[in-house]
Amino acid sequence: MWISFAGIITNYKDVKQFLVQKGHKFRSDTDTEIIAKLIKHIHGLHPNYSFRELVEQVIQQLEGAFALCFKSMHFPGEVVATRRGSPLLVGIKTKTKLATDHIPILYSKDSPEKVELKDTQSDHRPHGHEIPAHGLARSQSTSEFLPQGDNKEVEYFFASDASAIIEHTDRVIYLLDDDVASVEKEGVLKIHRLKRTLEDTHAREITTLKMEIQQIMKGNFSSFMQKEIFEQPESVVTTMRGRINFDSETVVLGGIKDYIGEIRRCRRLLLIACGTSYNSAIATRQLLEELTELPVMVDLASDFLDRNTPIFRDDVCFFISQSGETADTLMALRYCKQRGALIVGITNTVGSSICRESHCGVHINAGPEIGVASTKAYTSQIISLVMFALMVSEDRISAQPRRSEIIQGLRNLPDQIKEVLELDSKIQEISKKVFEKKSLLVLGRGYNYATCLEGALKIKEITYMHSEGILAGELKHGPLALVDKGMPIIMICTRDNVFVKCMNALQQVTAREGRPILICHKNDQEPQKYGSSVLEVPKTVDCLQGILTVIPLQLVSYHVAVLKGCNVDCPRNLAKSVTVE
Ligand code: G6P
Repeated sequence: MWISFAGIITNYKDVKQFLVQKGHKFRSDTDTEIIAKLIKHIHGLHPNYSFRELVEQVIQQLEGAFALCFKSMHFPGEVVATRRGSPLLVGIKTKTKLATDHIPILYSKDSPEKVELKDTQSDHRPHGHEIPAHGLARSQSTSEFLPQGDNKEVEYFFASDASAIIEHTDRVIYLLDDDVASVEKEGVLKIHRLKRTLEDTHAREITTLKMEIQQIMKGNFSSFMQKEIFEQPESVVTTMRGRINFDSETVVLGGIKDYIGEIRRCRRLLLIACGTSYNSAIATRQLLEELTELPVMVDLASDFLDRNTPIFRDDVCFFISQSGETADTLMALRYCKQRGALIVGITNTVGSSICRESHCGVHINAGPEIGVASTKAYTSQIISLVMFALMVSEDRISAQPRRSEIIQGLRNLPDQIKEVLELDSKIQEISKKVFEKKSLLVLGRGYNYATCLEGALKIKEITYMHSEGILAGELKHGPLALVDKGMPIIMICTRDNVFVKCMNALQQVTAREGRPILICHKNDQEPQKYGSSVLEVPKTVDCLQGILTVIPLQLVSYHVAVLKGCNVDCPRNLAKSVTVE
C-alpha cells in the first residue's frame, strides 16, 4: 500500500486501539500508519470491495483534516484520492481535447452504509450501483470525459497545490470535501460522493490555470524566497492592476464593490488571520480606522476561536490568508459565517477554501508564492487592504487629500521597492555581523510596528534564531532589561507622527550601550548618528512605509539563513499551508 497523506487524524488513537485489538502490529506512532492498517483490515473483511469502496469505508472512520492518495499492489494501475478539510486537486494531461469540461458526480444508489469496525465477516457491499447526479447514465457520463479522437492517452496528477503540477498540465479539478476521485484500470477518472446533499453541485469543473511555468521556476535565484523578495516591484503592480486609476484617483475592487454599502453600514470590521497574514492586518489597522471611521478588531484566528468571540449579523469579518487554506482561519470564517456576519476573503489562491466560502473578497494577485516564509504575499496583502480603505472612503470629501496622497504613494511604490532592493549587498555584510548571535530584537512603533513583528517572524522562521518584534512604546515596560552592548538590535525610525517618540526609545537603547542597526529615511542625519550601521530607505506616505521597511528585514532573514546553512525555502517544522488546527 502506498499512501500520500497531508493533514491530521484526530481520532487516530481510537482507531489504533481497535486495530491493535484485532491483532495488527504497528511500526510507528504516526497517524499515517493507522490509515494503511485500517484499509488492510477492511480489505480482509471485504475482499470483494473495489479499491474506491475500500477508501470510502476508510474515510468514514476517520476524523480530522486530511488529503489522501492511495495506490495498492492489489489494485494495479488504479489510484484513489480524497480530501476533507485539506486541499486536493487533480491535474489532467491529454494529447487531444477533452470531450467535456465537467466531470459528473456519481452517488451511491442506496443510502450509504458505514461498515461497523466491530463487524464480523459479512460481505455486504455498502453501495449499490453508482448513479450519476442529474440522472445521466453511467456510461454516458464517464465516456464523455475521455479525450476526443484516436489518442485516448491521459495522465493524472494529484497535488495539494497547483504550483506542483503546472509544469505538466494547466487543467485541474479542485476536489471538494469528501469527494473520492478514482482512476480505474482503463484510465477513466470518476468522482464519487457517498451522500447527496442539498448544496451539492452535480459536477466538478475542469479549470484552466492562469499560472505560467516561469512563475514557479527559481531562475537565477538560489531559492524561491529570494526570488519572491526580488519580485516585489512587479507583484505590487499586479495587485493594483485594473483596480487603481492613478489619474482619476479612483479605486475599484471588483470582488467587493457590490458589498460596499453594507460594509459602510456595519458595526465593526474584524481582521482575522495567522502568521504573516495577521501582521498585514496589524500593518493596515490604523489606516482602516482612519479612513472607514469604524472600530477595527485584529485577531489571531486561533485566539479568536479560543475566546468564542461574540459575533453579530452586522459585523464584517475579513479573513486574510495567502494559501486560503489555513485551518484556523477557515474555522474562524465558518464560525463568523454561521453567526450571520459578512465574510470577506483576502487570499492569493484562487479556488482555495477561504475564497470559495467567502461572500466576497479580494484576490491579492501576488502570483504563486512557493517559499514557506511569506514575502511578496505580505506586501500585496497590505496593498489590498489599503485599496479597500481607499474604496470605502471614496465618498468622504474630507478624506480626499489623504486618499490622493496615498494613491500617489502607491504609484511610486514599485520604483521605491527597487531602490530598497539595491541595499542587498549591504544587508549581506550586516548579516555577517549578526548571524552567529543568539537573538535579534526588532524595535519600532506606529506603522512600523507590523514590520517589527513580520521581520522577527521571518528571522525565526528561516534562521531558527530567537527574534522578537517589540513595540518601542513598550520598551520601558520590560524589554529594556535585555539591552546591553552585546544584544543585537534593529531599530526602525522613520519620519512620521511617532518619530520623536522613536528617537526617545533610540536614546534609551544607546544610553545602555546598545548600538542598533538603523532603518531610517534616506539622508536623515538625526537618527543615523546613533546607529552601528544604517539602512536608508526612500520616504513614502506613513501608511505605506511598512512596505519599504519590511524588505530590508526580509533580506536580513534570507542572508542570515544562508550564512547559517539553513534550508531557506523549507524551514524545519513549518509548512506553507497549515491545514490542521
Ligand atoms: C504558516 C506559515 C506562515 C504563514 C501562516 C499563515 O504558519 O508558516 O508563514 O504566515 O501559515 O498562512 P496563510 O496561507 O493563511 O497566509
